[in-house]
Amino acid sequence: MRTYLVTGGAGFIGSNYIHYMFDKYGDEIRIINVDALTYAGNLENLSDIEGRDNYEFIKADICDREAIEKIFAENEIDRVVHFAAESHVDRSIRNPEVFVQTNVLGTLVMLNCAKKAWELEDGSFKSGKRFLHVSTDEVYGSLEEDGSYFYETTPYDPHSPYSASKASSDMVVKSYIDTYHFPANITNCSNNYGAYQFPEKLIPLIINNTLCGKKLPVYGDGKNVRDWLYVMDHAKAIDMVCEKAQPGEKYNIGGHNEKQNIEIIKTIIDTIAEMLPDSDPRKAHVNYDLITYVTDRKGHDRRYAIAPDKIRSEIGWEPETAFKDGIRLTIQWYFEHQDWMQHVTSGDYQKYYEEMYR
Ligand code: NAD
Ligand code: TYD
Repeated sequence: MRTYLVTGGAGFIGSNYIHYMFDKYGDEIRIINVDALTYAGNLENLSDIEGRDNYEFIKADICDREAIEKIFAENEIDRVVHFAAESHVDRSIRNPEVFVQTNVLGTLVMLNCAKKAWELEDGSFKSGKRFLHVSTDEVYGSLEEDGSYFYETTPYDPHSPYSASKASSDMVVKSYIDTYHFPANITNCSNNYGAYQFPEKLIPLIINNTLCGKKLPVYGDGKNVRDWLYVMDHAKAIDMVCEKAQPGEKYNIGGHNEKQNIEIIKTIIDTIAEMLPDSDPRKAHVNYDLITYVTDRKGHDRRYAIAPDKIRSEIGWEPETAFKDGIRLTIQWYFEHQDWMQHVTSGDYQKYYEEMYR
C-alpha cells in the first residue's frame, strides 16, 4: 500500500485531489494530509473523508522542520504531493513576507525532510519514491496577445510576489534534482476552478457576489486572459505525473481554454440566470448591471496560456472537462453548498473584502 504525504490538502486543489485519489484508489492507498489550516485551509472540505481508516490529518506548518521530520520518521512515505502554499496574488501584493516564508522556506523544509528519509548511504535514493512539487504557470510571467504559449523551456519571468515565490520554490526543487538527483517532478498548471475554491479568487467570488446581488469587480479593462482548467482534470494530471513521469521531469498542465476575465464573468451571470428557477427571487438581480470596473491590480499579468504538448505526448494526459460543463458543475456545487460559503465568508473574509475592494 502506497503512503502519500499531501501538504495543503485542506485547501482548494489539495482537497479535490484527495477526493480524486480516494475515488480512484479506495483502500489501496493511504493519505496523510498535513496542513497548517490558514484562512485558506478548511477541514469542512474533507468532512466526508475524515472517518476513513486510510486517511489521517495532521495540523502542522510546513516550515516546522521538527513536525515534518516526525511525520517522515513515523511513516514510510512513498509520495509527497506538495500543494501547501500561500496562493493569492492580491494578498501577496499587500503582504509578501509570508509568501516567501511558506512557499520558499516551507518547500525547502519539505525537500530536506524527504531527502533525509529517502537517501541511502551511497547518496542514491530508495527506489519508487517521488516528490511532486505543484506549481503555477505564473512563474513564466505574462504573454502578449499574439497567440504565443508557455512551454517547459520558457524562461521564468515572475512579476508578483506570489509568482516570484513560486518561481523561487521551483528553482530550489530543480537544484535538488540537479545536485542530488533527488526524485522530484515539477508541474506548472494554469488557473483552476471547481468546488471548494475560496471566494477570494475570481470564479467563486463572482458566483457568490452574483447570487448575493453584490457588485462584480472587474480589474482594469477586463481583457486579461487566463487559461482555465477544471480542478479534477488537474488532480488526474498530478496522479499521472506521479506514476508515469521520469524523475526530474517538469510538465506544464493547462486546459487550452483561454478566456478574458469579462467573458468568464458574463458566462457566470448567464449560466446562473439559466440555472435559477423563475420562482427564485434572486433571479431578479442576476444581470450584467452588477458588473463594475475597478482599479487594476498592480503589475497585472496580461495573458497566460499553456502549451500542454509535453504532458500529452509523454504522459498521455489531456483536459477532459469542457468549460461549459465544468462551470455548470461548479455553479451547481456552490448552489448546493451555500452553508459552506456562509462559513468561509463570515469573520475574517469580510475584513479582507472591505480592505481589498473599498
Ligand atoms: P489554497 O490557498 O486554496 O490552499 C493552500 C493550502 O495550504 C491551505 O489549506 C492552507 O491552509 C495550506 N497552507 C498554507 N500555508 C501553509 C503552511 N505554512 N503549512 C502548511 N499548510 C499551509 O491553494 P490552492 O489554490 O489549492 O493551490 C494549491 C497549490 O497549487 C499551490 O501551491 C498553488 O501555488 C498551486 N496552483 C494553484 C492554482 C490555482 O488556480 N489555484 C493553479 C496552479 C497552481
Ligand atoms: P485570480 O482568480 O486572483 O487568479 P490569478 O491572479 O492567479 O490568475 O484572478 C484571475 C483574473 O481575474 C486575474 O486577471 C485578476 C482578475 N480578477 C478580477 O478582475 N476581479 C477580482 O475580483 C479578482 C479576484 C480577480
